[in-house]
Amino acid sequence: MSSVFNANLLAGQHAVITGAGSGINKRIAERFAIQGACISIVGRNAGKCEVAAAEIRALGGTAQGVAADVRDADTLADAFHQASDAFGPIDICIAGAAGNFVAEAATMSTNGFRTVIDIDLIGTFNTFRAALPLLREKRANLLAVSAVQSALPTATQAHVCAAKAGIDMLVRTLSIEWAARGVRCNAIAPGPVADTEGMKRLAPSGEASWRRLLSGIPMRRAAECDEIADLALFLCSGAASYINGTVIAIDGGQSNLGSQQFGDMLLDSLRET
Ligand code: HXC
Repeated sequence: MSSVFNANLLAGQHAVITGAGSGINKRIAERFAIQGACISIVGRNAGKCEVAAAEIRALGGTAQGVAADVRDADTLADAFHQASDAFGPIDICIAGAAGNFVAEAATMSTNGFRTVIDIDLIGTFNTFRAALPLLREKRANLLAVSAVQSALPTATQAHVCAAKAGIDMLVRTLSIEWAARGVRCNAIAPGPVADTEGMKRLAPSGEASWRRLLSGIPMRRAAECDEIADLALFLCSGAASYINGTVIAIDGGQSNLGSQQFGDMLLDSLRET
């Protein structure tokens, strides 16, 4: 777990992170723990949350797992109260839980479309609303995990593009409504990230498809989870104290090229199966 930061930047803070049982959000949780934060890992799979929390404790950090589905606002609010009872007011809340599958809009069911909107967009709303009454006064941070698909239309990802675009506007709106409470609200928008559940679901299996995907990224590689975690750390730290209502892309420059290669590759892989 290397980091460009090593300064106990979050000493004594409580960070609640949804979807942190694996992938990007898990790495963010580990990174924040190294920086001195107590971590509450929220996810629908209780076992996965507890394992991730135990791994942080094994590294010498402080962490707990709390089970809840972000789609269920009442259960989520209970989970946040439980987290806060144990670790105190919430300094940082990260809405990371997300869902995805590859499907053409022409054949996707309404329920399939709604499921991703429910997890990603409504889940982010539920997460921030559950956190609001429990936030540390005058200096709390909310961070949503969006994706470059919020601004880059991508074939087979209509549900995800719509959900992530909604997240960006939610974050920008909350940054206005909640600023007077001392709350900063931002989002990160990653492109492809190596070794994640998302890439397992979306990544091409063959070398040629992978090359095709990378040809749409100026830096010709996917991000590492550590790189995403460092951006999250920056935005939730005092170093970003005047950044509010911003969506920061972390995509190796993909946004400047568009996502036609990625979308075409997904479309072809779907049609081949
Ligand atoms: C078409 C599908 C489908 C598929 C599910 N559905 N998979 N439709 N093609 N491959 C439809 C189902 O048929 C159903 O509709 C509806 O979606 C709900 O499916 P369930 O399996 O009942 O839902 P659930 O168990 O809640 O699972 C949610 C899920 C699943 C999103 C479908 O994939 C999941 O749990 N994912 C969580 C982890 C994950 O996806 N992580 C990656 C995030 S990546 P019907 O009509 O049949 O009832 C990410 C990166 C974004 O966010 C950027 C990427 C470019």
